[in-house]
Amino acid sequence: MNTAIAIRGLQKSYGEVGVLRGVDLEVPEGTVFGLLGPNGAGKTTMVRIMATLLAPDAGQVRIAGYDPVHEADAVRASIGLTGQFTAVDELLTGHENMVLVADLLHLGRREGRRRVAELLAHFDLEEVAGRPASSLSGGLRRRLDLAMTLIGRPRIVFLDEPTTGLDPRSRRAVWQIVQELVGSGTTIFLTTQYLEEADQLADRIAVLDHGRFVAEGSPAELKQQVPGAQNLDDVFLALTGRPIPVAPEEDSLS
Ligand SMILES: Nc1ncnc2c1ncn2[C@@H]1O[C@H](COP(=O)(O)OP(=O)(O)OP(=O)(O)O)[C@@H](O)[C@H]1O
Ligand SMILES: [Mg+2]
Repeated sequence: MNTAIAIRGLQKSYGEVGVLRGVDLEVPEGTVFGLLGPNGAGKTTMVRIMATLLAPDAGQVRIAGYDPVHEADAVRASIGLTGQFTAVDELLTGHENMVLVADLLHLGRREGRRRVAELLAHFDLEEVAGRPASSLSGGLRRRLDLAMTLIGRPRIVFLDEPTTGLDPRSRRAVWQIVQELVGSGTTIFLTTQYLEEADQLADRIAVLDHGRFVAEGSPAELKQQVPGAQNLDDVFLALTGRPIPVAPEEDSLS
């Protein structure tokens, strides 16, 4: 099996603050890697480095075999990114947002329109696609954001807290999309504050705390590393000496 993401000795600081202090990671193609960590742990920083948006201070990063700093175009052609904060343009309709991305990717008018229509149908967004994005609920907006991410058929998809703030139903819709993507061979790197989400979706999970992975393994292995642990909350507490922070309000954005 090929390696989609390979990272060795990754370091990144903001001023004096070491956010990533030596992270190693390997994600095989066609699998889901779940990165868990409290607010401020460095999850988004890691995603931004892999997605070519931020340069690391030290370490080796290979995304689809390419270096995000020196081969940024090749990395960008291989990946899709759904950021923590949606990339949807509020002033445009859902359809216009989609077409904008297709045009940015130079898909060509015919192929672009065809792909947009296909994804809007697939994500059940046809009925709302004519409305300004600003009028969409959090769950619909997130779905539109995901559809925009997939226009270029990326082999590797980064999802930074894809379900934070969504209600349970919208969350399950996103989970289903992730599972479909994996079924079609896509590699997924997702960050989350929800233990249940990592447990449900990820083949492997790492817990990021104070700049390092304090645990890594399958959900079952993680639970085994801490004897007596019933769930990942217990694992986090045992590894860090602190409870995992409470996730934001579930329905604030939905
Ligand atoms: N541009 C920046 N300049 C200075 N500090 C930053 C910058 N971006 C992030 N940080 C700091 O780096 C740390 C890691 O931030 P990051 O956004 O990666 O965390 P996170 O795990 O994604 O958190 P959250 O769960 O809240 O999204 C935080 O302490 C943050 O304040
Ligand atoms: Mg973040």
